[in-house]
Amino acid sequence: MRSTSAHARVTATVDPPWDAGAWRSAARAALCAGLPPEQLDWSGGAQGSLLGGLDLAALPAQRSAPRVPSEFLALADAVLCHRADDRHGLLYRMLWRIAEGERALLLRAADPDVHRARTMAQAVRRDTHKMKAFVRFRAVPGADEEYVAWFEPDHWIVDRVAPFFARRFAGMRWAIVTPYRSALWDGRTLAFAPGGMRADAPAEDAREALWRTYYANIFNPARLNTTMMRAEMPQKYWKHLPETALLPALVREAGVRVREMAERAHQAPRRRIPAAPAAPAPAPGGLDALREAARDCRRCPLWQPATQTVFGEGPGDARTMIVGEQPGDEEDLSGRPFVGPAGRLFSRALDELGIDRGSLYLTNAVKHFRFEPRGKRRLHRRPDVAHVEACNGWLRAEIAQLRPARIVCLGATAARAVFGPGVRLTEERGLWRTRDDGVRAFATVHPSWVLRQGDPAAQAQAYAGFVDDLRLLTAA
Ligand code: URA
Repeated sequence: MRSTSAHARVTATVDPPWDAGAWRSAARAALCAGLPPEQLDWSGGAQGSLLGGLDLAALPAQRSAPRVPSEFLALADAVLCHRADDRHGLLYRMLWRIAEGERALLLRAADPDVHRARTMAQAVRRDTHKMKAFVRFRAVPGADEEYVAWFEPDHWIVDRVAPFFARRFAGMRWAIVTPYRSALWDGRTLAFAPGGMRADAPAEDAREALWRTYYANIFNPARLNTTMMRAEMPQKYWKHLPETALLPALVREAGVRVREMAERAHQAPRRRIPAAPAAPAPAPGGLDALREAARDCRRCPLWQPATQTVFGEGPGDARTMIVGEQPGDEEDLSGRPFVGPAGRLFSRALDELGIDRGSLYLTNAVKHFRFEPRGKRRLHRRPDVAHVEACNGWLRAEIAQLRPARIVCLGATAARAVFGPGVRLTEERGLWRTRDDGVRAFATVHPSWVLRQGDPAAQAQAYAGFVDDLRLLTAA
C-alpha cells in the first residue's frame, strides 16, 4: 500500500480514550489514507492536540475501508477499555496487518501482538465481572429511592458495564461513582459525568446490617476455601462489601464450627422431616428492608442472567404465607411473584374457594428465575438444591418477620425449602404439619404441574385435586 505523506507524523485522537466508535473512525481514516502504524501517534482525549502533526481527518482517502473480522472488533472493544497507553497503537498495528493480508492473524495465538491483545481483553473482562459482582448501592439519606455506589475499577470499564446496571436496576435511580468517571441512571436515561470520591457515596445504610445478618446465617464453615475466596473476591473489593467485615471472625471460627457440626451429625439420628433451622430474629426495617437487601443478592449464580430479584409480596400482617418454587418468565420481568400462567391458575383456585389473594403473602423458595435460553424464549429450569439452600436465608427471614400462622408449599421444591430436604411431596401432600417454630404448614402440587397435564380431562382432575388441597385453608 502507498502511504500518504511519506514520513510526516500524524496524530490520531480517541476521545474519550476507551471509546470504540472514536477509535474505529480514526483507525478507518488512517487505514484509508494508507498510513502505516509507525507514522501514527495515538493519543487519548484533549492532549492529542499538544502532539502536533498532521490532522488525520484532513488526509485524502487512498482506498476504501477493508472488511474486518467481527472477532477483531469485539476484541478491540475490550482492549480499548484497558489502562495501558499503547493499546490504540497495538490495535491499529493488528488492523493494519489484517488489512495487508494477514486475515488469519487472530488464529496465531503465539504472535506477540495477538497474545498481548488477548491478555488485555481478558483483564478487562475480569474487571467487568468484578464490577458487576461487587458494586453495592447505598440509599441516599433523605432521598426517595436514590442510590449511590462507589467502585474502583482497574480499567476504563464504566461505560462498558453501566448498561448492565441500567437493565438490572431499571426501576431505581442510581449513580455509580468511580475515581475517573460516574454513571447516572434516572430511571430512563443513562448519562456519564466526571469521576468523584469515595465520600460521594453515602456511608453504610440499614440494608447492610441485614445483609450481614443474612451472610452470617448462610456462611457454611465446612465449605470454606480461603484460596478460592481470595481469587473470587480479591481483597481490594472487601472494603465495598458489608459482609467482609465478618469474614476474619467467621474464618477464624470455621474449624471449631465444622468439628461441632460433625459431632452434632454423629449424635443426632436423621429425622425423616428434619427440623426447620432456627429462625433468625425479626430484622429492623421489616419486610421492606429485607426486600431491599435481597435486591443485591449474589449468593448463587442465578442472579446473573436473571432480570431482578423477585421477593415476596403481600400484607405485612398476612396470616397465610404461600411458598412457590421460583419466579417464572413473567415474574422475572415484572419483579412480582405469581403473575404468570401458574399464578393465574392459582388465583382462579383461590377465587373458587372465596379466598382473597390480597390477604396472602406470596413468595418463592428461590428468588431468581432459572432458565435456559432457547432462541428468543427462556425455558424454565428447576433450581438445584444448592440454589434452594443459598436462598433459604431469605425465606427464613421472611417467615421470622411475618410470623404467619400457616404456610402452603406449592410443589416439592417449596416443601423442601419449608420442611427440610427429607420431605416427599407424594407422602406429605395435603397434611398439616407443625414446624419447630410453631408455624403450621402443608404441601400441595405446584400450579404449573396442573398446567402441564396433557389432555383436558387429566388437567381438570389435577386442578380439582389442587383446589381440594387448598380448601384446607378455609377450614383451618
Ligand atoms: N411459579 C412459582 O413457583 N412462583 C412464581 O412466582 C411463579 C411461578
